[in-house]
Amino acid sequence: MKGEPNRMDIIPMTTRRFRAEDKRIINNKSVDVNQLVPIRYQWAWEYYLKACANHWMPQEISMQRDVEQWKAAGGFTEDERRVIKRNLGFFSTADTLVANNILAIYKYVTAPECRQYLLRQAFEEAIHAHAYQYIPESLGMDEGEIFNMYREIPSIHDKDEFEARLTADLMSPDFETESFEGRQRLLGNLVGYYGIMEGIFFYTAFVMLLSFGRQNRMPGTCEQLQYILRDESMHLNFGLDLINAVKEENPELWTAGFQQSMAERFKQGVVLECRYGEDCLPNGLMGLTHELLREYVQHIADRRMEKIGLPKLYGSSNPFPWMSEVVDLRKEKNFFETRVTEYQTGGTLSWD
Ligand SMILES: [Fe+2]
Ligand SMILES: [Fe+2]
Repeated sequence: MKGEPNRMDIIPMTTRRFRAEDKRIINNKSVDVNQLVPIRYQWAWEYYLKACANHWMPQEISMQRDVEQWKAAGGFTEDERRVIKRNLGFFSTADTLVANNILAIYKYVTAPECRQYLLRQAFEEAIHAHAYQYIPESLGMDEGEIFNMYREIPSIHDKDEFEARLTADLMSPDFETESFEGRQRLLGNLVGYYGIMEGIFFYTAFVMLLSFGRQNRMPGTCEQLQYILRDESMHLNFGLDLINAVKEENPELWTAGFQQSMAERFKQGVVLECRYGEDCLPNGLMGLTHELLREYVQHIADRRMEKIGLPKLYGSSNPFPWMSEVVDLRKEKNFFETRVTEYQTGGTLSWD
């Protein structure tokens, strides 16, 4: 009818209803991305539900003891202050880089169940960025120093640049996933962020900071990190499942050459992370050395690679078995002196 807006271009009207099996993780051609139901990717929906049950906010955690410890004369050696500041500096911008990348991949992930989780993850990254603002502010650190580390400290800059290039690639105007090459680039981005940034870079930083919590130092900071680690372990597992789902629906992408380039990407990530470990721990402290960190980095790199079907490269053992325990908060009621108990959805925390 004359004057009626052409609605067909945006949401075509139809009586044809799609079936769950018509959905595709990427490059969906036949299903409306706005229609969550019928659900096909139940696993992604489960991640979303579980993530929502883990809700927390940084300012619910007391930082009082941390402030006392941080300000006490002789409370920390210069080396200890360096480790704490470097890792907070790394995290303060890293979670924002991850959030930016979620926005870059969101458009190309066409399963609404996965998008639902990506939106939740993006919010969690905002909460983490909030925590990394709240901690230095509470401790009275020089925030300019912390937030500029990714521009000023080479070992942090190099890791972030390695990742940010992958985001820039997807954001470039000529990027698309219609082509074989474009789809491989998308998959390579997921490997770079979920496998390496969140799967490796984050974990060594957790080891260094949580080591203080194991000695009842920086208890508020470490409690926040426990929450963050719980979120991150879900991001990691979701991401690796997403990679496997893209592979399963697009097996032609997983060529020998592509596998080789992904193994190279992991190797490069391991080199960058080992350099970062050397930079953070020039002398070693609290039983942590950069040699042990290297073993740990190699160990977790192997695990991430195996999970997406790449052969492991290093065969190193885990020098920090306590990390796998701290990942699961529910089992870890007595890990630190101030303890998080089972989390209740609805925004309240309960304490021992
Ligand atoms: Fe995060
Ligand atoms: Fe994350």
